[in-house]
Amino acid sequence: MKTLNKSATGKAHGKIILIGEHAVVYGEPAIAFPFKAAPVMVKITKTETPARIASSYYSGPLNEAPDVLANIKLLLETIGHDLDQPVENLSITITSCIPAERGMGSSAAVANAFVRALFNYFNTPLDKERLLYYVDISEKIAHGNPSGIDARVTSSEFPVFYRKGSTFEALSIHLTGYLIAADTGVKGRTGESVADVARCVEKQPEQTMETIRTIGQLTLQAKDALAHNALEHLGRLLTQAHSMLQKLTVSDDTLDHLVETAIQSGALGAKLTGGGRGGCMIALAQSEQKAKIIADKLLEQGAVNTWIHALGEDNNE
Ligand code: MEV
Repeated sequence: MKTLNKSATGKAHGKIILIGEHAVVYGEPAIAFPFKAAPVMVKITKTETPARIASSYYSGPLNEAPDVLANIKLLLETIGHDLDQPVENLSITITSCIPAERGMGSSAAVANAFVRALFNYFNTPLDKERLLYYVDISEKIAHGNPSGIDARVTSSEFPVFYRKGSTFEALSIHLTGYLIAADTGVKGRTGESVADVARCVEKQPEQTMETIRTIGQLTLQAKDALAHNALEHLGRLLTQAHSMLQKLTVSDDTLDHLVETAIQSGALGAKLTGGGRGGCMIALAQSEQKAKIIADKLLEQGAVNTWIHALGEDNNE
């Protein structure tokens, strides 16, 4: 295969939802952090063969790619059509450090990086609104009924306070603390858990909507805690949010065990993060030293990977 010279790249990163997942689908606010320790890059080059893709899921002709890459296929066709550009002879390489299907926004991050790469390739300017328009299309395929938070935070340099349907705000953070993220090693099932919450809303509307509204209230309090260095209060809010997510049926034994482990090891609070039913959890610690102790304990108790994120470094100024 002869690859011609012209090439372009696009980048994005993973995300960690601090609080508000699932409720955000129903119009409540959520807070999320860009997870820059987990970057993704997409490179596009010209080939003389029909479009090809290389990724950790699959490498080969794009038209034979599995369903998990259906969003990339659709984005390629849609953007090619909208920009009136030929997309038949492109080679797409996805290099991702985001653990896939772990509630860290892998699908949205790949879509963000891909759209950026494609617009770079066609030398076409891309503003944020247009980027999000395409990533939202892609996320509908990946997750069915996305709130849009993953699309926004995986392309943002700053923590995000987001309510569906409104523009997102870069969040003001005045807090010194450490967030530990731990991977259960179990693939998360965001589409399924979002659909199950929808079933709960249908079957027990009052009770479920009350839980969802409570998560919204906890999120507003968390925003305040982040602005006023109320670390211990923030920890309690996270643990309360986890109880609400349990009520929404999106936790599981592995997540509950790691949440319990973190709290017993000195975390100020802990909860699942993202879609749940596998995937990742987070815990809050007041010092890096405590964060390391908690991370070690989580690994001992079954987590397959941990990351420590200094919240004080999330500055939007
Ligand atoms: C997934 O990262 C977050 C959920 O709230 C779904 C969504 O907001 O699209 C579970």
